[in-house]
Amino acid sequence: HSARFRPALAVAVAAALVVTGCISLGDEDGDGFRPGAADLGDPYVPGAGNGGYDVAHYRLAVRYDPPTDRLTGRAAVTATATTPLSRFNLDLVGLDVAAVRVDGAPARHERDGDELVVTPRDGLRRGSRFTVEVEYAGVPTAKPDGQLGSGGFLHTDDGAVALGQPYSAATWFPVNDHPSDKATYDIEVTVPDGLAALSNGVPGGRTSAGGWTTWRWAEKAPMASYLTTLVVGDYRVETGTHAGRPIVTAVPASLPATGPEALSLARTGEIADFLASRFGPYPFDSYGGIVVTDSRLGYALETQSRPVYGPGFFRGGRPNYGVVTHELAHQWFGNSVALSRWSDIWLNEGFASYAEWLWEEHDGGRTAQRSFELEYAATDWSRPSVDPGRSHLFGTAVYKRGALAVHALRRTVGDDTFFRILRTWTAERRGGNATTEDLVALAERVSGRSLRPLLDAWLVGGTAPALP
Ligand code: ARG
Ligand code: ZN
Repeated sequence: HSARFRPALAVAVAAALVVTGCISLGDEDGDGFRPGAADLGDPYVPGAGNGGYDVAHYRLAVRYDPPTDRLTGRAAVTATATTPLSRFNLDLVGLDVAAVRVDGAPARHERDGDELVVTPRDGLRRGSRFTVEVEYAGVPTAKPDGQLGSGGFLHTDDGAVALGQPYSAATWFPVNDHPSDKATYDIEVTVPDGLAALSNGVPGGRTSAGGWTTWRWAEKAPMASYLTTLVVGDYRVETGTHAGRPIVTAVPASLPATGPEALSLARTGEIADFLASRFGPYPFDSYGGIVVTDSRLGYALETQSRPVYGPGFFRGGRPNYGVVTHELAHQWFGNSVALSRWSDIWLNEGFASYAEWLWEEHDGGRTAQRSFELEYAATDWSRPSVDPGRSHLFGTAVYKRGALAVHALRRTVGDDTFFRILRTWTAERRGGNATTEDLVALAERVSGRSLRPLLDAWLVGGTAPALP
């Protein structure tokens, strides 16, 4: 138990990359160019992500026609080679690729399962920036995952929803599909007139021609691919300004304007402001939220700047500010400061769950201390928050035990130091990636005390820790 935070995993990932590199060395040509890895080596998502390059920007233009369920897309992916590349992979599920160009020159391309393998005419030197353009089309499919529920492109009654964690993006565009490679996005979606096409970030100009309307979105802060979304359908879209930035909310037109869904979304700005008062400045340049009614969507997801809420959260007929708080808290914890590897998912869910306790106290409900006590009594300590296992990615050890660890930290270091730790974390790591190790190191630095044994006991120890 000496290596509880699993530096061993980082070593394993590195080893996997070395092994892949060694295999690739066999293909090395005289110039030293070699194929990029087909996988980033994260054991929670075999096959996801690719090696040898780092994406900076995705420019996507997709057209979707609900009656035929056909999607036509053009993607321009701008990246930097991190190794000398003879060829490289993008993740792409289904869909037919018509043409690929690298820096304007036609490139060879072939499919290998959920991979698109691109061989540029000339090798790409390490450090060189390149743009790969992909033209593709087809009927998008979900990427079913028995353990984790639905993920990917879903054709709904009035349109579609592309959504999912730990992945979904590859079902509608070619992508380096792992949160360790964040990028900015320009997304253009063309749909039949009368339908809305919602996505992440700041809305751009909308234009119509020949029965089709093009909606434009720009996300200028680095975004992990699983945080992208595309929602097409018959929506009541409200666009306004909050704290000087655009706020876009969308509720299915079939739902009443005063129903629990619309009322919940209406407090988005207020809840984001509350969280900013605890966590530091809101990290993005737009706000919002989208409600979907398709019963197959059994969860909400913190898609960047504009979470998507499934129908299950509003069944009681009353607004659900807890789920709004949870998804907005992810904008700091998970989105702005993103995971480097899925085994650290408690860094997302522990803090988002803790935010629900903070909101409840702020809103006049039970105190965070009381929530902590109740949850403490109910916890199964045999399950760890860190490296919970793939099938427990969204389990209570990640969400609730993670929140308990956050509150235990607060009780130990005191409110001032605790909120200073949170604000330092969201400021220093803004727009980047981080690990559990990074958080422990930062908490120790900011507080000036040893916290590893405490966090170790609360996050992974096999028995109930003493109350701080
Ligand atoms: N991160 C989401 C949330 O807690 C949960 C996503 C659950 N995903 C799933 N495939 N079951 O807000
Ligand atoms: Zn969450």
